[in-house]
Amino acid sequence: RPLARESARTDAAATALGLTQRPRRNRKAEWSRRLVRETTLTVDDLIWPIFLIEGEGRREPVASMPGVDRLSVDEAVRAAERAATLAIPAISFFPYVDPSLRDATGSEALNRGNLVCRAVRAVKAAVPQIGIITDVALDPYTSHGHDGLLDDGVIVNDETVALLVEQSLIQAEAGTDVIAPSDMMDGRVGAIRAGLDGAGFRDVQIMAYAAKYASAFYGPFRDAIGTSATLVGDKRTYQMDPGNTDEALREVALDLDEGADSVMVKPGMPYLDVIRRVKDTFAVPTFAYQVSGEYAMIAAAAQNGWLDGERAMVESLMAFKRAGADGMFTYFAPRVAERLRAG
Ligand code: PBG
Repeated sequence: RPLARESARTDAAATALGLTQRPRRNRKAEWSRRLVRETTLTVDDLIWPIFLIEGEGRREPVASMPGVDRLSVDEAVRAAERAATLAIPAISFFPYVDPSLRDATGSEALNRGNLVCRAVRAVKAAVPQIGIITDVALDPYTSHGHDGLLDDGVIVNDETVALLVEQSLIQAEAGTDVIAPSDMMDGRVGAIRAGLDGAGFRDVQIMAYAAKYASAFYGPFRDAIGTSATLVGDKRTYQMDPGNTDEALREVALDLDEGADSVMVKPGMPYLDVIRRVKDTFAVPTFAYQVSGEYAMIAAAAQNGWLDGERAMVESLMAFKRAGADGMFTYFAPRVAERLRAG
């Protein structure tokens, strides 16, 4: 009777403290911790971002994201099959565009046969049940690495939005399920919604990167899509200032007014307060993006043996749920899904 012995041993101290409340009682065993757990992470919460590259049978490691590869379209189909087997609801695509195809206006974004469109078609044909989310922004396609058109050093809003509408239509024609504008231009959600509706794509959702911050945590992503070296200046005239949260609410309100079906906060872990405010204020589907730099921090520290990578992965994703997110983009998606399945 170990428990009885233990309480006998501590009786004197209990009397001294006079405690009636002992929160530790609920934590005393795994069965109890499971029963009282407020937040759970499930495979239903996961969106897997996948980097694409030209070629066949090609998997090219991203040096600053240990464990993440750029995949050719056939490999992306294999990844989608793996995602479906693991019951991951949705994947998203980010292309490494051949530098020879990049230009000042990002014209490859409007090519119906571009890498993203080919991947969408191939995955839709092979794994029709999986959700596909495609990013709308010009940065993988522009020679200067910006998400919009540059005119005399200034990112021009309305001219950019016109191109983003075209880019959305091309992705919708390829069969994407969700358009995710990540560009942070003003008015793009409304323009894209009107464009999609006008072309008969009423059921294509819009997931707005509503509160996207000008963040240092995107560094490894820019390596992955090859814009680190080419980006001219920074993105602070369109992405948000890290000091602001009221502004995040304003951005979310506008995107919802313009027809967004769900909204996103990005990056994730440094902005958990923003997720909570957005969820409490609007009560709409709210997603977090655990960005490349967050992934790299955990993966690199784990590689060095400085932290337990598996536990840090699960804890970091649980934090998004606790903050109010309905789900999250994470490069850990297949690994965490495998772990969740193993129980
Ligand atoms: C570009 C885009 C970025 C990310 C997603 N879409 C980078 C940026 O704005 O420079 C970042 C994702 C990540 O870091 O994992 N529109």
